[in-house]
Amino acid sequence: MERMKRVFSGIQPSGLVHLGNYLGALRQWVLLQDQHECLYCIVDLHAITIPQKPKDLELQIRQTAALCLAIGINPERSILFVQSDVSEHGELAWILSCHAYMGELRRMTQFKDKSGSNQEESIGAGLFNYPVLMAADILLYNAQAVPVGEDQRQHLELSRDLSRRFNNLYGDVFYVPEPIIVKAGSRVMGLDDPLKKMSKSASSQYNYITLMDTPDQIRAKIKVAVTDSGREIRYDEGQKPAISNLLTIFSLVTNRQIAALERDYEGKGYGVFKKDLGEAVCEFVRPIQKEYAKRLDDPALDSILSQGASKASDLARRQIKIVKQALGLGFSPVH
Ligand code: AMP
Ligand code: TRP
Repeated sequence: MERMKRVFSGIQPSGLVHLGNYLGALRQWVLLQDQHECLYCIVDLHAITIPQKPKDLELQIRQTAALCLAIGINPERSILFVQSDVSEHGELAWILSCHAYMGELRRMTQFKDKSGSNQEESIGAGLFNYPVLMAADILLYNAQAVPVGEDQRQHLELSRDLSRRFNNLYGDVFYVPEPIIVKAGSRVMGLDDPLKKMSKSASSQYNYITLMDTPDQIRAKIKVAVTDSGREIRYDEGQKPAISNLLTIFSLVTNRQIAALERDYEGKGYGVFKKDLGEAVCEFVRPIQKEYAKRLDDPALDSILSQGASKASDLARRQIKIVKQALGLGFSPVH
């Protein structure tokens, strides 16, 4: 029998997971578990590309892991682990960075956004190398499919290039990973600005709804969310970017078709629509929050993560040996 496709994805431990993260990526993580061998990673080494407070980071790693479990990642089926627990990520990142070009890394839009105009003097080299570490995450497990939001497409393309480049030089070592980017939800827009993606680094908390927001916060944020001119509830990204974004969210949190929602809200105006959307989002996050609270304080969380790290390490050790042998590095035979 053909082996199940292997899936890999990662999330930064920011302690703040918003609807964009969930609808664009995490939702797929859960769905893919049924038919694939999945590895899900809390990418703490990526997090330190920008300054972090050690105590906060430690807590955020735990919170992100608890949240993954709360949304339905099943540790019996999927490997959930923390990146820095498997040292081969750094090792492969170094090897790949020797094969990545400064030019291609400089063209990464996320690097350009995060470094701004101050590209050379005081920007950490880790931020520059960020996509190389991401490629290492994926190629270390020879993952074939990578569920991510639209904003990661360019990074995935780089992973594919690095994989092909390496294979051309040293023989077939890596798969060329395919992105899984869903149609609806892969780019959830900010509530305060429907032309920019929802982002945890937004300056205002009215940009996003987190999975941990209280019902009052959710209602308030949706109430003041930007809308478009006119008053009809219609999906049209060009003419009605704000309402289209709200319709996407409404549709995904309730599992209802956008066309059905458009029909329901015909002639009803924005006020009623927003009020119902607020309630739907509250309804949606309630069970997740309940489960999260249980998971966060449960000592089982630690053993889930250490078992995850041990399973991931077994796979990583095997792969790094193959990689090193292909490169002519080291003496230890592959077994
Ligand atoms: P991060 O929190 O940056 O580690 O992102 C975790 C996942 O969420 C990645 O797959 C991102 O592509 C995805 N993501 C982040 N922001 C959004 C958004 N506004 N819409 C859809 N997906 C997103
Ligand atoms: N860069 C991704 C993000 O910010 C997180 C990430 C790190 C990732 N390594 C990965 C995603 C490997 C997919 C595969 O969202």
